[in-house]
Amino acid sequence: MLAQKLIRSEFIAYFGDNELEYFFSPGRVNLIGEHIDYNGGYVLPASISLGVSAVVSRNSTDYIRIYSMDFKEELLISIHEFEYQSNLLKTDIHWSDYIKSMLQVLKDKGVVLKGAAILLGSDLPIGSGLSSSAAIECLIAYIFNSTFYNENRKQLALDAQYAESHYVGVNCGIMDQFAVANGKSNKAMLLNCASLEFEYIDVNFKDYQLLIINSNKSRALAESKYNERRKECDQAFSVLQKMDPAGNLCQVHEISLAMLEDDVLYRRAKHVILENKRVQYAVDALEHGNIEVFGQLLTDSHKSLDIDYEVSGEELNTIVHYSSHFEGCAGARMTGAGFGGCCIALVKKESVDKLIPYVAKKYFEKTGLNADFYHVDIVDGVNSIKFV
Ligand code: GLA
Repeated sequence: MLAQKLIRSEFIAYFGDNELEYFFSPGRVNLIGEHIDYNGGYVLPASISLGVSAVVSRNSTDYIRIYSMDFKEELLISIHEFEYQSNLLKTDIHWSDYIKSMLQVLKDKGVVLKGAAILLGSDLPIGSGLSSSAAIECLIAYIFNSTFYNENRKQLALDAQYAESHYVGVNCGIMDQFAVANGKSNKAMLLNCASLEFEYIDVNFKDYQLLIINSNKSRALAESKYNERRKECDQAFSVLQKMDPAGNLCQVHEISLAMLEDDVLYRRAKHVILENKRVQYAVDALEHGNIEVFGQLLTDSHKSLDIDYEVSGEELNTIVHYSSHFEGCAGARMTGAGFGGCCIALVKKESVDKLIPYVAKKYFEKTGLNADFYHVDIVDGVNSIKFV
């Protein structure tokens, strides 16, 4: 979270002094359960202390002015004329598209938009698989409709997901927006993506620490590949459904996989079915304080995402390889959609300071890229914050 003093002074420098409100919307890390939210599976995300902060001053003008500290650009919205057309074929998504999409969803729902000056600042690396888009969508929705969404966080997640799939054009699952809307400090969420029922799971990694490692490999083509994976899963399910009574791909029995003659569809479905099981084993391991088993499941998940689901790549594989083989690391995997972005590693606290320079060096030698390492806390979902 950016320091309040910093964003406050940036706000005053740009918009002038006013009565101010503060908001914070976290990013999310998914511990395990990747690419199965849109297949009705279980996922285990948590909202993290890296995120997007907002300073807001309400006013009676007909305009919403939003200044991004990160992009050094202003978005001006005329409340009465505003109408955002979804452009699903657009490939170069601009930061303001997420905001316009969310505002349009609010408008469609009959929320009356009011004048405001807003400054946004983020310490969440953008487009790196830590859900900067869900953070911004939930933040904008929350700023303009906080009384309602405070009590209806499930709806907040659904509305933000709708903004992303219907207007931005990324046909995402529910996990990211759900984690950002419903996060709780020191807890992960075991979310059943078919029913949207969830429970909080204590995250106690004992003498291990969760480390996030950013490959800084931009996620080129991620959106189109993501949508392609979804289609492949639908195709696999439509074949399997004929013989298996399952309600979604995650529920298909492993034995039924043999019915898939197409190798690609077979591997996609295999990942989905086994990843869903791994989530449940991982929760069990966490609840029993069995961190080594939890770590091994992370590494198994990564292998499956790499070989069967094919959403990893040289950069993520290099990080996972050198991290997971390092003495004191229980396991590592890519997190989020993949094709670049971030990994997580579960590392003994005493080994963290040795692992970081080792992995950084090996990674640079192999890819020519510098990795970034983040220590994060697990925090509450999107909320207003008191100025301290
Ligand atoms: C992206 C999507 C999520 C989920 C993950 C992969 O983050 O937004 O809905 O599908 O990828 O697990």
